[in-house]
Amino acid sequence: MNPTIFITGTSSGLGKAAAKLFASKDWTVIAAMRYPEKETELTEFPNIHLLKLDISDPKQISGIASEAEKISPVDIVLNNAAYGLMGPFEGTTDEELSQQINTNFLGTILVTKSFLPYLRARKKGTIITVTSSTANIPYPFVSVYAATKSALEKWSEGMSYELKEWGISIKTVVPAYMQTHFGSNAQMVSHPDYQNVFNQYIQSMRADSTAKRDTPETIADIVYEAATDHKQQVHYIAGDLATVEYEWLRKEGIETVLETMSQRFLS
Ligand SMILES: NC(=O)c1ccc[n+]([C@@H]2O[C@H](COP(=O)([O-])OP(=O)(O)OC[C@H]3O[C@@H](n4cnc5c(N)ncnc54)[C@H](OP(=O)(O)O)[C@@H]3O)[C@@H](O)[C@H]2O)c1
Repeated sequence: MNPTIFITGTSSGLGKAAAKLFASKDWTVIAAMRYPEKETELTEFPNIHLLKLDISDPKQISGIASEAEKISPVDIVLNNAAYGLMGPFEGTTDEELSQQINTNFLGTILVTKSFLPYLRARKKGTIITVTSSTANIPYPFVSVYAATKSALEKWSEGMSYELKEWGISIKTVVPAYMQTHFGSNAQMVSHPDYQNVFNQYIQSMRADSTAKRDTPETIADIVYEAATDHKQQVHYIAGDLATVEYEWLRKEGIETVLETMSQRFLS
């Protein structure tokens, strides 16, 4: 039987690229998204099945694994859905903060929790969570987004012990900067006292020559590698910029990195 992958956030970007890649390799793909009724591209694939899922809604999450398992037993869960919250922390409302944490962190771990009984019963499976290089090197004005991704990194590391007993692997794919709708989908916040420094940051970001973007297809290839290589490896640093940043952090350490980033973007 062909293997099956369940993917969250498949309406665009990496989620959609991964759905198409796995489908092209004859996997059964269960593509979850908030508005499946609007999807026109993935519906063209006979081996892609759409399910409705908003990962910030625990009610929708509670039934998702049993719905997916009725389509086909799931081998891989790809936690991809997330959005950015960008701007000065002081400009965020409590609701915006809760929504960011409830989606990127809580939603992701609850989706995983719903699948674990099925994977444990079969004593196999892989959970892959898309995090971000901001978990290693935070950029200015995305502190809470970076914190959700950092939390997912630590949660995955911790879970790698717990799941070993059951033959289940847990992995993270760590991209830096992809050509997707992520920027336009991000929720922007502002605060009048931070307007000058925020504008300065945006200008220097635009001018930054290191800001080379990977395609979602390139990163989907790394997801495929993580799904199929049978390695006991938790982290997959994904793409050119993520690799450069990771090596920089390893060599120089976080204090030097933070000081250099500050000079590059904020002085
Ligand atoms: N692009 C980058 O530079 C970058 C860098 C590092 C990491 N990442 C990570 O890569 C992953 C994919 O992002 P992307 O770049 O492909 O961005 P994207 O094009 O904006 O895709 C994000 C997907 O997540 C979905 N989503 C957002 N909130 C959701 C919710 N509450 N429930 C279900 N789905 C939800 C979106 O669906 P809707 O269409 O319904 O909004 C969309 O399908 C994310 O985890 C992101 O944090 C991106």
